[in-house]
This record gives sequence, C-alpha cells and structure tokens, in this order.
Amino acid sequence: METITLRSGAVMPAVGFGTWTLRGEACAEAVKTALLCGYRLIDTAQMYRNEDAVGEGLRRAGIDRRSLFLTTKVCAPSDSYEGTKKQIETALRRLGTDYIDLFLIHEPYRNAPAMYRAMEEARAEGKIRSLGISNFSATEMEAFIHETGEVPAMNQAEAHVFYPHRTLAAACAARGICMQAWSPLAEGQHGLFTNETLAAISRRLGKTPAQIALRYLLQLGIPVIPKAAREAHMKENLAVFDFTLTPKDMAAIARLDGERSFFGWDD
Ligand SMILES: NC(=O)c1ccc[n+]([C@@H]2O[C@H](COP(=O)([O-])OP(=O)(O)OC[C@H]3O[C@@H](n4cnc5c(N)ncnc54)[C@H](OP(=O)(O)O)[C@@H]3O)[C@@H](O)[C@H]2O)c1
Repeated sequence: METITLRSGAVMPAVGFGTWTLRGEACAEAVKTALLCGYRLIDTAQMYRNEDAVGEGLRRAGIDRRSLFLTTKVCAPSDSYEGTKKQIETALRRLGTDYIDLFLIHEPYRNAPAMYRAMEEARAEGKIRSLGISNFSATEMEAFIHETGEVPAMNQAEAHVFYPHRTLAAACAARGICMQAWSPLAEGQHGLFTNETLAAISRRLGKTPAQIALRYLLQLGIPVIPKAAREAHMKENLAVFDFTLTPKDMAAIARLDGERSFFGWDD
C-alpha cells in the first residue's frame, strides 16, 4: 500500500475504507472484511452513527491497533468547544481505542476555531494524533488558518473524475495540506461505472472503470476513501497500484471535469 505523509508527520494509507451508509451488524462485518482484505485506514464520523459498529468490526478483525489508521469527525450539535471535548471521549469509547489517528471538523461550522482548540488539547493528551477539517472551501480554509494560527493536516473534500476540485486541491497543496477525496467514485452517479472514456482505458489496461477513476485521483496526489459493502468491490478498489495511467489517459480523464459539485460543495 502506498502512503501519504501528513504535515503532522503521520503516515496514512493512500487508499482507505469509507463507511458512510453502513450501520449496525452490516457495518461491523463490512469493516472486518475490509480489514481482512488489506485496508488499514477506516473513515467514520459522528454523523454516520456507526462509530460503535466500526469499533466492533475492528475487534472482530483483530488487527494490531498500531497498524491501523482511524479517522473520525465531529459535527453539529457538537459544534462547540465543550461539545467537541465530549465527542472526542465518546468517539474513543465507541471505537474502543485510546487514540484517534485523524480527527476532523466535518463542516465549516461558525465555531470551528473553538472546536479546534478542544482538538489541540486532546492532541496534547495523546488522544488525537492529527487534526483536520472537511468541506472547507479555499476561502473558508484560509480564514480558519488566519483565526487559529494553525495549518490543519487535512481538508477532506468531495473529489472524483467529474469534479476533481482543482481550486481546492491547489489551495491545499500551497499550504502543505492533504486533500483526501470523499465520494471518489461519485457514488456511481453520472454513469461513472459505464463512462466511455473510463471504459476505453479500463479495457486497454485490463482494469475496471472504478479502478481507473481511483487511480486518476491517486496520480493527482489525492488519497481516496471509497466505500464498498461488497467484498469484490473492496478488493477491486485496493488493486490500484499495479498499473499507471499515461499522460494521454490523464488528459482524457481531465476532460470529464464538469467543475460542479454533485453534492452542493462548490467552491
Ligand atoms: N467528509 C464528508 O463530508 C464526507 C462526505 C461523503 C462521504 N465521506 C466519506 O467518503 C466515503 C466514500 O464516499 P461515498 O460512500 O459517498 O461514495 P463512493 O465511495 O464514491 O461510492 C460508493 C458506492 O460505489 C459502489 N462501489 C464501490 N466500489 C465499487 C466498484 N469497484 N465497482 C462498482 N461499484 C463500486 C458502492 O457499492 P457497494 O457498497 O454495493 O459495494 C457504493 O454504492 C464515505 O463512505 C465516507 O466515509 C465523507
């Protein structure tokens, strides 16, 4: 597995496992299966209401905690200093761990600087390793840095072949912030899995359109966290390190950029 070194110094797998929409027993089993397939980064969130099920999946897989990278996020109504403090403890308990690798503010809440203070304190106590934000536009990110005097390790944001989020990616790169792609398969929207540009490249390389779509982001330097309930999809999404897209492939895929968010996160 290729890795990305965050500005905090933490080493993060370039491909992680997303858990949005997975709940309860299905979530626990999916997380266990993903770990046994080789995933080491699991992405969850307070908002997904599955941190406990993720924790159960971690226990079932029995992988050494030190080789795992756990990301979770805090959201409203915990969008305050006190709320974030409390949510960090809740997340630790639900996940069954004594530290979280990466803790993110889920959206650009008005209280984000105060929430970040609570996260910095938790970092000092060894409860969080890296701190970050999610869904902040370039402007919101700069305002946040100005207000807190801190540069976050990550801004997790929507990115896929139809919206690689170039403006934000450039702003993050200029600051040494990792932009990790959520919905890297665009949830299959806009016919991603049958797109002719991706299909033509996939036929030539003996890969699938999903693998081409993920590889495209990875070659742009953007790590990904695809979600998959099916084991075949989990395995497919990990097998993206044994081929390379040519500059011509990259240029053809770049032309799919519609410069519009699918989920209302335009810059
Ligand atoms: N920070 C944020 O605000 C935010 C927002 C959204 C998402 N996220 C994170 O990002 C993760 C990924 O995003 P997402 O879940 O929205 O969507 P996604 O990963 O773009 O797409 C997931 C969908 O693609 C299908 N799929 C996965 N691999 C496939 C393959 N190889 N071939 C064909 N279909 C495939 C899945 O099917 P099956 O499940 O049937 O296998 C599922 O329906 C989330 O789970 C979450 O952890 C974060």
